Amino acid sequence: MRLIDGNAIAKEVLAEIKAEVAALAPVVPHVAFVRVGEDPASVSYVAKKQATAAEVGMRASLRVFPADVPKAELMAHLDALNADPAVHGILVQAPLPPHLPETEVFNRVAPAKDVDGFGTESIGRLVQEMPGAFAACTPRGVVELLRRSGVRTAGKHAVVVGRSLIVGKPAAALLLAKGCDCTVTVAHSRTADLPSVTRQADILVAAIGKPRFITADMVKPGAVVIDVGINRVPDASKKSGFRIVGDVDFDAVAPACEAITPVPGGVGPMTVAMLMRNTLDACKRALGRG
Ligand code: GUN
Repeated sequence: MRLIDGNAIAKEVLAEIKAEVAALAPVVPHVAFVRVGEDPASVSYVAKKQATAAEVGMRASLRVFPADVPKAELMAHLDALNADPAVHGILVQAPLPPHLPETEVFNRVAPAKDVDGFGTESIGRLVQEMPGAFAACTPRGVVELLRRSGVRTAGKHAVVVGRSLIVGKPAAALLLAKGCDCTVTVAHSRTADLPSVTRQADILVAAIGKPRFITADMVKPGAVVIDVGINRVPDASKKSGFRIVGDVDFDAVAPACEAITPVPGGVGPMTVAMLMRNTLDACKRALGRG
């Protein structure tokens, strides 16, 4: 079993980005974050993204709205960010409160600034395999982890468990696209006999959002397992009262794998690194250097 070290690979990616950012001076790539409400996981993710932007020499701004912000107010803020030439990327942290329909909000972000890759145009470009499409950060991180850790993907059967807009759907599109060339199956909560499907995977991408959902009997020996899950489970021994576990029952699954990502320290840091990559690309394109 080989552990795929997301922290080390993300560090490598961020060093490359930092050098490219420095070369753009005096222009500073700027990513604008929008957070609605105080969901503790969202607070922590956005803070991490802001800190990483600073590390690579980018500008990060943050606007926080109360959970009951009227839709029109949020949309007006997005319009202002869209119109601001000093802003290169815009990210509205999900999940949003129920009165704010996520797809409608994501679609309000100008396609040229859609560094999250959740808008209609970004998704369309991704599926069309247009060069320069903004791919969603977590799926892009998954593919980059596979590539940089030397996992061969062409002709392999990739099974993605989860069909979210944020991970499952774009991950399937990326794994299917030329360059990855996987045979792709997307499974989800209504899939019949899920273990028989996941056991076919050469590459298993777990993006379900349920702690330790993928058990040893669901994984083929020799598979490569990418665990996208970030779940908080109660842990009285921690100061915070919780600890983070993935969607994969790591201790049981890992021994039979060819390679596996840990949680934390697997996909998570790559998501953040890919956001920086998308923001840098958006900035370069705005400058006509993309
Ligand atoms: N919530 C969980 N992951 C993501 C992400 O990649 N982008 C945004 N905007 N929200 C998220």
